[in-house]
Amino acid sequence: MRMIIAHITDTHILPSGDPAPKAAIRANALRRCVADIARLAPDLVIHTGDATQHGDPEEYAHFKELLSDIEAPIYMTPGNRDERSAMRGAFAHLPESGEFLHYAVEDYPVRLVAFDTTGPHPRKGFACEERIDWFERTLAAAPDRPTIVFMHHPPLDIEALYENGYNDSAQAAALERVIARHPHIIRVLFGHVHFSKCFDWAGSLASTMGSVAVDVRKGMDGSGRDAEPLYQVHTWENAEDGAGTLTTQTRIPSP
Ligand SMILES: [Fe+2]
Repeated sequence: MRMIIAHITDTHILPSGDPAPKAAIRANALRRCVADIARLAPDLVIHTGDATQHGDPEEYAHFKELLSDIEAPIYMTPGNRDERSAMRGAFAHLPESGEFLHYAVEDYPVRLVAFDTTGPHPRKGFACEERIDWFERTLAAAPDRPTIVFMHHPPLDIEALYENGYNDSAQAAALERVIARHPHIIRVLFGHVHFSKCFDWAGSLASTMGSVAVDVRKGMDGSGRDAEPLYQVHTWENAEDGAGTLTTQTRIPSP
């Protein structure tokens, strides 16, 4: 069985009709990704946060309109720019999970677990005890299923472009320990940092991705090519013995 997941992040969408040049740049970058994703017809789409610039309902309405050509459901985790209740208002299919916007998606060959890293410190990741407990219990509930975890703030330093991402380093360490305890996690996907990187971490393979919002992209090499909008496609193929493989492709959609 095959499962295709499209992953976009940090779209930072502004309201429709906003006159700022960056509003049109970001909308156009997302449009290009959406056209490519719609052609690919994935089973689902993951968004790792900062869907909008200010978390306003009119920004979510614009974001939703820009996504309208994609038939697959979108599963989102909030970023520091998002607002949970406005997200839920725009995307009513997101699983109900109380105060935090975290949940498991069970209906596919690969299980997905969204972890909510937003908290009281602007721009910093947060992982309180209550959320860490939920994460541990949720992962422990299906130890035999291949699982992808996704969240906004990486709880580790990733070169000089991203250090001390959590206000409380003990929270980041606790989050890493939970992931390391669960070898059935086959991939950890992050948003927030606006540059692409892939690395071994906590017994799994983790990655960050360049922001769809190209005007706030980081880690540019000067070639100009990395200023293009991009997203990733993760394809799971079940093997006959019940195991499987996940391969990842980075796609730059055509203008
Ligand atoms: Fe962002």
